[in-house]
Amino acid sequence: MSMPSKTLFWLLFMISFVSLLSEPCCYAASDKDMIIEVCKNTTYPDFCIGTLRSDPRSVGADKKGLVQIITDKALTKGKENFALVKKLLGRATDQKDKGPLTICFQRYDLVVNRNVIDVINELNKNNFFSASIMSSASVDDIQDCVDALAGAGLKSPLTSQNKYVQDLCNLSVDILFTLIPK
Ligand SMILES: *[C@@H]1O[C@H](CO)[C@@H](O)[C@H](O)[C@H]1NC(C)=O
Ligand SMILES: *[C@@H]1O[C@H](CO)[C@@H](O)[C@H](O)[C@H]1NC(C)=O
Repeated sequence: MSMPSKTLFWLLFMISFVSLLSEPCCYAASDKDMIIEVCKNTTYPDFCIGTLRSDPRSVGADKKGLVQIITDKALTKGKENFALVKKLLGRATDQKDKGPLTICFQRYDLVVNRNVIDVINELNKNNFFSASIMSSASVDDIQDCVDALAGAGLKSPLTSQNKYVQDLCNLSVDILFTLIPK
């Protein structure tokens, strides 16, 4: 390399190095703004912000990506709840407990094996309205479980877990509505 091109090389190297260093700062700042902007339009902005900020995948994600993250969380948590329902049902001896838990079993089967899978597929096809319908279906299906437990006066660790998945699904519906073409 001749002297001028060597200097140029180092100059370019330094510029890219410095811009590389400054990237984390600026990406992070705009991502925070993005999350706040998106969450402003939802029913529970604090829940929205907390849910998305706690997930490293939200860095650099667009609105659709944020819905995918929330849906993925709903699937993970939904599967945990389904497992809990199966465990509680396996232990239940009283018909008074078995009835409502059987309803919860059937509904969670729909949530994790149909609804959430449909949401993911519809999202991938950019069918935001259909995705919102299936996400709402999860909220309703879990509500059947909530009502069955309450009707039987059954105190269960499921109660708060149910609400968490419903909150995630309702949050995804809020964001999906802003993605539906007007
Ligand atoms: C929030 O809602 C307003 C009013 O409907 C809309 O103009 C804006 O684009 C929305 N912002 C986001 C990030 O969805
Ligand atoms: C979910 O959203 C619907 C529609 O806004 C609302 O009626 C329902 O109470 C919400 N569910 C929960 C568990 O917050």
